[in-house]
Amino acid sequence: MLSIDHLTKSFGRTIAVDAARIEIAQPMMIGIIGRSGAGKSTLLRMLNRLTTHSSGRILFEGRDITALKGAAVRGWQADCAMIFQQFNLVPRMDVVSNVLHGTLNRRSTLRSLFNLFPSADIHRAIDILERLGIAEHAPKRAEALSGGQQQRVAIARALMQDPKIILADEPIASLDPMNAQLVMAALRRIHEEDGRIVIANLHTLDTARRYCDRVIGMRDGRIVFDGTPAQLTTGVARDIYGADASFSESATSTEIETLDREGPGSGPGGRQAAGATV
Ligand SMILES: Nc1ncnc2c1ncn2[C@@H]1O[C@H](COP(=O)(O)OP(=O)(O)O)[C@@H](O)[C@H]1O
Ligand SMILES: [Mg+2]
Repeated sequence: MLSIDHLTKSFGRTIAVDAARIEIAQPMMIGIIGRSGAGKSTLLRMLNRLTTHSSGRILFEGRDITALKGAAVRGWQADCAMIFQQFNLVPRMDVVSNVLHGTLNRRSTLRSLFNLFPSADIHRAIDILERLGIAEHAPKRAEALSGGQQQRVAIARALMQDPKIILADEPIASLDPMNAQLVMAALRRIHEEDGRIVIANLHTLDTARRYCDRVIGMRDGRIVFDGTPAQLTTGVARDIYGADASFSESATSTEIETLDREGPGSGPGGRQAAGATV
């Protein structure tokens, strides 16, 4: 489906992403982990064509995404919706209008200017909000919602585009553990129920292990690990994060797992109760 071939991005002398190769043969949920500066955001931004690559190629269902121009790039950006750490909603606008903005790239400027949305779109927006458990907030201003609710509005806006791929750049980095869990569960459901590819940059190991089918570890622009959560041992994690004395798993852990540690299949043992909130 999606094939990333030797994708590289340089900023001057910095090689932010160095010949990344990723093959995604079927829809799955992928977590990308690594230290700050490892190249995670640059990789997602190149995928979405927000950042122009320096070399390499992206193929999606046989199409060369890296060769697209103009309107075709915008078409791809609708197929490949992006969610950000800071939600990027219009704070003073109501929730449902924020969600409807997910349809703007296929509507005329004049209609968009006057917020004239077709009623079918409005119904769909409400359905999507319902699915994400936040329909009752539809008439409120976005800024009146909690961070976790706002991130689910951002997910709803992305779903309005009916994307094949959802890219999420640190979607839970600004959220408390409970909201982080809700947002990750929503992304997981979107993958499982709709068959969309979800690729999320995550700053914590345990979240990647818990929600993703596959984990990709980046270090200094290079992919140094690509495997299942089970293969992501502490030794591998040390390699991804750098095997110096400052490595500690708790520093890369959220409190998500401690919320329901009693639950079945909870992650690796031996974790300290995480004290630090992210
Ligand atoms: N617009 C930019 N201009 C110059 N350097 C950049 C730019 N964006 C990212 N970088 C550099 O590229 C590297 C990777 O950054 P980034 O992709 O943001 O990493 P991550 O998301 O893993 O924290 C870093 O060294 C960063 O400083
Ligand atoms: Mg980043």
